Amino acid sequence: MQHDGRDNTIARSLWPFGFALAAAAFLVGLVLSWWIVAIGGGAALVIGALWITDSIRRRHPHLLEETEEHSAEAPAPAPARPAPAAPEFTRSRFLEASTLGLGAVMGGAITVPAVGFMIAPAFEQQRHGDADLGPIENFPEGTYMVTTFMLDKKEGDVSRRTAYIRYNGLLQEQPSFTIVSNRCSHLGCPVQPSGPISEEPKTIETPNGEVVLSESNPAGFGCPCHGGAYDAEGNRTAGPPVRALDRYEYSIVGGSLHIGKMYSVGTVQGTGADARIRKFTLAAPGQHVDDWLWWLNPLQPPH
Ligand code: FES
Repeated sequence: MQHDGRDNTIARSLWPFGFALAAAAFLVGLVLSWWIVAIGGGAALVIGALWITDSIRRRHPHLLEETEEHSAEAPAPAPARPAPAAPEFTRSRFLEASTLGLGAVMGGAITVPAVGFMIAPAFEQQRHGDADLGPIENFPEGTYMVTTFMLDKKEGDVSRRTAYIRYNGLLQEQPSFTIVSNRCSHLGCPVQPSGPISEEPKTIETPNGEVVLSESNPAGFGCPCHGGAYDAEGNRTAGPPVRALDRYEYSIVGGSLHIGKMYSVGTVQGTGADARIRKFTLAAPGQHVDDWLWWLNPLQPPH
């Protein structure tokens, strides 16, 4: 469109499309993986800078001409040019700028809180510390205790979990525990001990809230959903699960058992305190961790 002898048409370009793609990669990376965040963020910065530069050149081509003239090898005396007229700030430009600015503010006001609520839980989850399960005397040697506890007292019962905990005696003069998650490694149903559970649970108060302990001596663990079966060390023995039951890290602090982060296990070699375990980063149910099928696992959000 010609207006006052100048072409005010905003040339179409692929920069907005590229910038949107890079921004989308950045946001998706916040959920999936930090290296996607880095690639998306870097691409957004580069494309944004190129977009701005290109826009300036399109709107003020004389700037480009001047640059080219200055960089010529054998500079010829430049013909005298009339001084550029002061840029007009027309009403249409004012309306265009204010509409874009208002749109950006409104878009940010809607998008930033939504994105914050979307990604904040992933970071909140990282802040769970160890959970105090009380004095180790509550865990008799060689017996599994069905233990329910809160991961985070502030979150209350919504953070309540169940783990199967067995005291294995001393290993190199340190208490040894086997702490198995009740999350089935097939699709995540809660597995149950394959044996009787004490009907008189013991409840103890800890700094981390109420911990309930029930004695059990199972031959293994079974999943009611699709018939998955595990032995007493958590190794898969039958059914669709693809790996052993996940385990918890632990520590002994002032005579109390503290439960830590979960990790995944392919297969447990040996039993009790003599078990040899290769730890893997916590995987989702259904994911392989110790064979070539691991490469087929989809990306996982941080947990
Ligand atoms: S969820 Fe446990 S066997 Fe399927």
